[in-house]
Amino acid sequence: MKLEKKLFQGKTLGILTGGGDTSALNASIDAIKTRASILGYNVYGILKGWKGLLGEGEIVDLTAQPYDEWYGGTALKSSRTNPFPTRKNPEDRVPQILKNLERYKIDVLVTIGGDDTNGAAKKLYEMHGIPVIGFPKTIDNDLRTRTLHHFKGEDNEVVVCPGFESAARALMELTIKLSTTVESHSRIMVMEIMGRDAGWLTGSATFGGAEIALVPEVEMTKERKAAFFEKVRETYTNSAKKSLIIAVSEGVRWYDEKKGALDVVCASPELDEFGHPRFGGISGLIASEISKNLGIEARAQITGYYARAGECRKYDMRLVQTLADKAADLIMRQHYGQMPVLNHLVNYQGLYEFNTSSIDMGSIGNFSLPEDYYDSTNFKFTEKYMDFLSHILEKPVYPKFEYHFPKVTPVVEI
Ligand code: F6P
Repeated sequence: MKLEKKLFQGKTLGILTGGGDTSALNASIDAIKTRASILGYNVYGILKGWKGLLGEGEIVDLTAQPYDEWYGGTALKSSRTNPFPTRKNPEDRVPQILKNLERYKIDVLVTIGGDDTNGAAKKLYEMHGIPVIGFPKTIDNDLRTRTLHHFKGEDNEVVVCPGFESAARALMELTIKLSTTVESHSRIMVMEIMGRDAGWLTGSATFGGAEIALVPEVEMTKERKAAFFEKVRETYTNSAKKSLIIAVSEGVRWYDEKKGALDVVCASPELDEFGHPRFGGISGLIASEISKNLGIEARAQITGYYARAGECRKYDMRLVQTLADKAADLIMRQHYGQMPVLNHLVNYQGLYEFNTSSIDMGSIGNFSLPEDYYDSTNFKFTEKYMDFLSHILEKPVYPKFEYHFPKVTPVVEI
């Protein structure tokens, strides 16, 4: 095709990444950049999320640049900058953003982010007519993507977001590895996993062998804590190697005996510009209460940023390419204010553009685990959740060292 025949010759498309990073961000940038270039756009990268559109602007030209889509994180950097006035920052930065979009002649803006980033972009579209397209990302997997999970004759609404698979796979692998140290000391390991409001990611540890799980959707009241300790005792006692891994979401609401109320554990009292606290530390509290109440040695492992770290995995790579195909379609049709999503939950081989559609990018807020995906009585994920996850991850064959060494008794001299 000759260059002058390209659809949007001379026009410019800007891409930014906002919020927490994931392993699939560079893959998403590359997939969008490639398709936009084919459509004839010059492609600019806006650095540090919305921050790159403040002041003089921090913009780079990605058009003819090589790009490593497998490398995790985002080469465009990210921030939690909010363009709109907030309690933390009362300044309205929208005028600066509008000015820079005009100065750099950015015709279309693609925002890769979660509810905060895409919600802000949608407001700019509604209030100021900025042509925006959203692109989903989160390891928490709690954006409403309206994806249907077909299970035993019924369709259930679930979430499938770029970034989730890479994080889930990493955590599954880590859980398998943790077993060796847990078994060696006959301990209980409380494994803390990112997820402020939803437990989708915590479930991935169950594929690695975690037998008990706690999620933010179910409050750990005084009564439920008593049932939980009983479950822990029973599961540990019945385990072949006297060991147990418990997966816990960082945002679990846990009854605090001293305060006489439910509480969350924060790593810092500061809130970000979208009003979110930074969680961290609940695993230590739970481990010490297990040791105290049950007399079993327990330890805590905060997995934190490990879930976001490292290379993009294969399901995520194919998912972002599939969603980018739909994003290109939205760009061509000038259907702004929309975000591409997957219609039906499918495995890796089934990821194709015909299985996508688009939704309003402004109403994608927290989508919790549906009740029948987590069994709150038994503190574990249900068969339905396992089926959901098995579309995205293959259940591993656990490396097992089955030993039954015969016991030796001292030789009695006669
Ligand atoms: O973006 C979501 C998330 O990964 C949460 O699971 C976690 O609480 C938060 O980001 C941590 O973000 P930060 O990078 O600001 O510490």
